[in-house]
Amino acid sequence: MNTRTTRTLAVALSLTAVLGISACSSDDKDAAGGSGAGAASADSAGRPELTVSGGYMPEPVNDKMAGAFMVIKNGSKTADKLTGVTSPLSDDLQIHETKDQKMQQVQSMDVPAKGELKLERGGNHVMFMGLKSTPKVGDKVTVELRFEKSGPVTVELDVKERTYQAPNSNDH
Ligand code: CU
Repeated sequence: MNTRTTRTLAVALSLTAVLGISACSSDDKDAAGGSGAGAASADSAGRPELTVSGGYMPEPVNDKMAGAFMVIKNGSKTADKLTGVTSPLSDDLQIHETKDQKMQQVQSMDVPAKGELKLERGGNHVMFMGLKSTPKVGDKVTVELRFEKSGPVTVELDVKERTYQAPNSNDH
């Protein structure tokens, strides 16, 4: 069910991108790549520039689930969206937001232009549902982030103690 939903979503998104390009530009050679920046393409052509820092996973208690946190910075004038995450450690990764101390799955999360998406304890995060093994402190976990406009970004998460706090976290 997940795969089919994702595929349908991807088709819908690329259709939107193609329509966006033909509506605002006569340059269609990039249409298939879905790099159309919509209204923003007038002043900055090209894809959003995303950098990911501080990626970590608190050591999971068992192989049932794990959370992952990081900061995704967007240095460009083009907004993007985090649309999915994959990892060799799990076949089911979800994007979760936390509302009223309850987490819930969302289909995508905004990475604002000239801004950042913070995934941090008590807030937005990546959730591994079911682990193929249980990583320990000092291990690395590879994830691939997928975006609406940017190409995929591979990130190595450091597995940290369960009490670990990111250096510039707001969470106390
Ligand atoms: Cu969660």
